[in-house]
Amino acid sequence: MMIAILSLTLSFLALARAAPDFSSANNLTSIAGTWSSNAAVSTGGDFCTPAEMKFDYPNNTGISYSFTDDGFFEEAQYRYTANASNPSCIQATIFWQHGTIGFNDNGSLTLYPFGSDGRIQVQDPCAAVTNVITYYDQQTLYSDWGITVDAQTANYVLRLNRFDGAKMPPMYLIARPPNMLPTQILTGVNASGQTVARKRSTSDVSQFWQRSAAPERISAREGMMLGAGLVGVAEA
Ligand SMILES: *[C@@H]1O[C@H](CO)[C@@H](O)[C@H](O)[C@H]1NC(C)=O
Ligand SMILES: *[C@@H]1O[C@H](CO)[C@@H](O)[C@H](O)[C@H]1NC(C)=O
Ligand SMILES: *[C@@H]1O[C@H](CO)[C@@H](O)[C@H](O)[C@H]1NC(C)=O
Ligand SMILES: *[C@@H]1O[C@H](CO)[C@@H](O)[C@H](O)[C@H]1NC(C)=O
Ligand SMILES: *[C@@H]1O[C@H](CO)[C@@H](O)[C@H](O)[C@H]1NC(C)=O
Repeated sequence: MMIAILSLTLSFLALARAAPDFSSANNLTSIAGTWSSNAAVSTGGDFCTPAEMKFDYPNNTGISYSFTDDGFFEEAQYRYTANASNPSCIQATIFWQHGTIGFNDNGSLTLYPFGSDGRIQVQDPCAAVTNVITYYDQQTLYSDWGITVDAQTANYVLRLNRFDGAKMPPMYLIARPPNMLPTQILTGVNASGQTVARKRSTSDVSQFWQRSAAPERISAREGMMLGAGLVGVAEA
């Protein structure tokens, strides 16, 4: 047991050395890996297929981030937003984006998405248009972040605080190396100037509500953060 823990620690240290220049406060282990607030949600896999404008809905809500040692990120979020004036009007938002990371001198972290690849889908049973999927491109600044060890699970925990004070739910390390889609532009015009075909797909709202029968509670602050990301919504 002791040896297993030691070798794990050593391999984490090896990764940490290859990672960007972290401040000592964040230096417990490398940020490289896949982090998730809820085992149901992870980056990579089928969460989003950007070329098909398609999401594969997880069984529960949550958020997940992945980072690589060479400066790429992927972000996956699936959230419910309660409606105070009408409790039956719960809005579901799922989004995904990937791109590059900037570690700033003041200890903050900036996510720079590949603009053509991000996708967002909003399902609102009370809206005129109940199911909307569109592009998503949200550059985000996290003013501070840190990695600690959770006393109960003995797992690494990543905490991200957004520039506007919003605290992201704590995320646990679930994979290293990270589970991610290829860390390059996947749709639109890529680095070699070639256009990748885009296809739209619609998903069945009734099926979606069936699958998400066990909503996780989310705080008003988390709900607010969703609103900030909605841009240029178009009908699917
Ligand atoms: C991070 O920790 C390693 C190992 O303790 C140390 O060698 C390195 O200098 C630290 N880096 C920073 C930026 O504090
Ligand atoms: C969701 O749960 C169902 C039934 O338990 C399972 O078959 C399916 O693989 C799960 N989906 C995901 C994405 O985990
Ligand atoms: C809450 O639901 C009402 C309909 O009952 C709707 O008019 C309103 O826009 C919703 N508010 C939010 C924040 O979604
Ligand atoms: C930290 O640096 C980033 C990038 O240069 C900048 O956008 C941000 O405003 C800075 N934050 C503070 C608190 O100075
Ligand atoms: C650009 O996309 C084309 C078509 O999918 C692919 O063959 C090519 O390798 C891509 N180039 C780069 C640099 O990603």
